[in-house]
Amino acid sequence: MDEREFGRSGQHASVVGLGTWQLGADWGDVDDKEALTVLEAAAESGVTFFDTADVYGDGRSEQTIAAFLSGRPDLHVLVATKMGRRAEQIPENYVLDNFRAWNDRSRRNLGVDRIDLVQLHCPPTPVYSSDEVFDALDTLVEEERIAHYGVSVETCAEALTAIARPGVASVQIILNPFRLKPLNEVLPAARAAGVGVIARVPLASGLLSGKYTADTVFPENDHRAYNRHGEAFDQGETFSGVDYTTGVEAAVEFAALAPEGYTPAQLALRWIVQQPGVTTVIPGARSPEQARANAAAAKLPELSGQTLAAVRDLYDRRIREQVEGRW
Ligand SMILES: NC(=O)c1ccc[n+]([C@@H]2O[C@H](COP(=O)([O-])OP(=O)(O)OC[C@H]3O[C@@H](n4cnc5c(N)ncnc54)[C@H](OP(=O)(O)O)[C@@H]3O)[C@@H](O)[C@H]2O)c1
Repeated sequence: MDEREFGRSGQHASVVGLGTWQLGADWGDVDDKEALTVLEAAAESGVTFFDTADVYGDGRSEQTIAAFLSGRPDLHVLVATKMGRRAEQIPENYVLDNFRAWNDRSRRNLGVDRIDLVQLHCPPTPVYSSDEVFDALDTLVEEERIAHYGVSVETCAEALTAIARPGVASVQIILNPFRLKPLNEVLPAARAAGVGVIARVPLASGLLSGKYTADTVFPENDHRAYNRHGEAFDQGETFSGVDYTTGVEAAVEFAALAPEGYTPAQLALRWIVQQPGVTTVIPGARSPEQARANAAAAKLPELSGQTLAAVRDLYDRRIREQVEGRW
């Protein structure tokens, strides 16, 4: 699979990576053996970038990645984790002592001395304007606890503030055919600054696969059941912030735009890969079949101008109003 460079850091990632929130919790029950087969299928399909976090299953996702990679020393996978959300979400918690403690725990979970890339995990907005926070992250680099750092953001404004920081290697942001706003300023700014862009929630939590209906029931321990209105964390992380009924209807229209040979999910991933400025897209997968199909999107032919225009038209007609003002 093609790889792209995170400009500032010089690190490389496959254009389609793997999101591993599913291997921790919040997407129904997790089977550890199945989780390993997802990692295996992704790696065998050429994926060289895994995104995880210390909170996914409270470390389970990190530990599963460590278990998988320890048995595959032949693989060169860039592992990006996140920190910050195991503590109360107040700026006062974003200090060097906490960073060191969170980093120690992630290094133990991942079984490494130095983490390839650590991202602040959607911190409170004032954190992005704090010199002390970024000085502390620089200290983690100096101490060789991490090779590079980045941020995972909720809003485009937060992304732009972070990109202006010289040490930020990557910005992770929601970008998909139901979330177009980052195309306007964030992607051009990231490109100009050499900051990598990690596109998350690329399938709008699965909506863009077109497989859900108004009657679909998600398990109780799946955020698609318990966070539809932002009850547990930011609403934008569930179905990309789109109201479920609207999302299901718009997904039917979206599926009809898939060219021959593409599934709707692959159309969404291919669309993201071809947006200038994107470094890697990180679909989550619940099965090896999904991981393989998602990786295969990297090799599909470029989408036509007509398809790109139809995606924008669908967004403008059905989605824009719900999301554009919020994130
Ligand atoms: N704040 C943050 O930093 C943050 C927040 C959210 C996500 N993330 C990261 O981004 C990653 C991706 O986002 P996400 O997992 O939330 O959402 P996503 O990638 O948009 O959606 C994942 C879901 O889509 C469905 N799916 C995946 N591949 C499919 C395929 N080939 N065909 C049909 N359906 C498919 C599966 O749903 P079913 O389970 O119904 O099959 C899967 O659970 C996460 O794993 C995580 O690493 C980070």
